Amino acid sequence: MATLPKELISAGIAGVGAYLPNNIVTNEDLEKTVDTSTEWIISRSGIRERRIAPATMASSDFAVAAAGKAIADAGIAGEEIDLVIVATNTPDMVFPATACLVQERIGAKKAGAFDLAAGCSGFMYALVVASQFVSTGSYKNVLAIGAENLSKIIDWQDRKTCVLFGDGAGAAVVRPAEPGSGILAYKLYADGSGGKHLNLPAGGSRMPATHETVDNKLHYIHMSGRDIFRFAVRATARSAAEVLDMAGVKVSDVDYFIPHQANVRIIEAAAKRLGLPAEKVLSNVDRYGNTSTASIPIVLAEAVQSGRIKKGNHILMVGFGAGLTWAAAVLKW
Ligand SMILES: CC(C)(COP(=O)(O)OP(=O)(O)OC[C@H]1O[C@@H](n2cnc3c(N)ncnc32)[C@H](O)[C@@H]1OP(=O)(O)O)[C@@H](O)C(=O)NCCC(=O)NCCS
Repeated sequence: MATLPKELISAGIAGVGAYLPNNIVTNEDLEKTVDTSTEWIISRSGIRERRIAPATMASSDFAVAAAGKAIADAGIAGEEIDLVIVATNTPDMVFPATACLVQERIGAKKAGAFDLAAGCSGFMYALVVASQFVSTGSYKNVLAIGAENLSKIIDWQDRKTCVLFGDGAGAAVVRPAEPGSGILAYKLYADGSGGKHLNLPAGGSRMPATHETVDNKLHYIHMSGRDIFRFAVRATARSAAEVLDMAGVKVSDVDYFIPHQANVRIIEAAAKRLGLPAEKVLSNVDRYGNTSTASIPIVLAEAVQSGRIKKGNHILMVGFGAGLTWAAAVLKW
């Protein structure tokens, strides 16, 4: 649709929005249904409560709500969106893409739409992909969304996973930014050899759904927590350092660090390795748990809307997750 520009255009985030379901499930609630304790969950993960979707809601419902807020925040109309990218591990259906369901409901009549699968790094991948279309001048307004209904793919009898996750969605409108601002540097990473540490084994073409797969709980999240923990700390710290270097931004010049919200111990360990003080680290994992692709845009939306993030701030964002994947970016707001 567009001709190639002579120079690349800076791409930045012009609007953000988040949606969380109302229903709060506390650690004390979980103590009643599974062999765990509030003390264990808080000391090992930092999570105090999480939001859980009603049975009637799917990821596209969350995505539409978050997208509507991001579009309003950007001061545009749904029909001005050129492309909808939904990063999710919990699409409404295997197909069609959840992004197409969102595209229709937000009235983005002229937009293309697709889903993107990169585990919990999905929003970071979507942000980077969105920025490519904006930087080349192909599109003006690209919607990057992370939306999850993880409660539907959790084994609520498995204490190793059920205490960690929550539902929610976050969205960002990616648009041309002033030269020198917006996304300054980014990098996407993957290591498929670690895929076995975090997956949902059945329901795909390798292991189609059967009575046996259901009986064996193979449609739920399977995770080796310790392997993911070690990977997450290392990947977050190293990729953050690499993109800061690429952008020519010193650690001391970072105003806010927004890591994927999986576990407060991962966040603190990565921040310590980077030399970032606690007041620069934004986190809400205590309130929402791990919302996967939604975690970074939810933190971002809360920080922008509360006025914490201001024009000119340097924001460092790092995601990690199934794949294994990880991704980092530095933005000048
Ligand atoms: C999952 C995680 C919190 C577990 O913490 P940990 O300190 O590694 O704990 P371990 O897995 O070593 O388990 C320690 C013990 O606690 C038990 N335990 C696990 N979950 C428990 C729970 N909810 N309540 C009480 N005990 C629990 C284990 O069974 C184990 O007991 P055992 O030694 O008798 O077998 C941590 O490894 C983690 O956060 N990993 C990363 C997960 C993640 O981020 N995933 C998403 C990536 S996008």
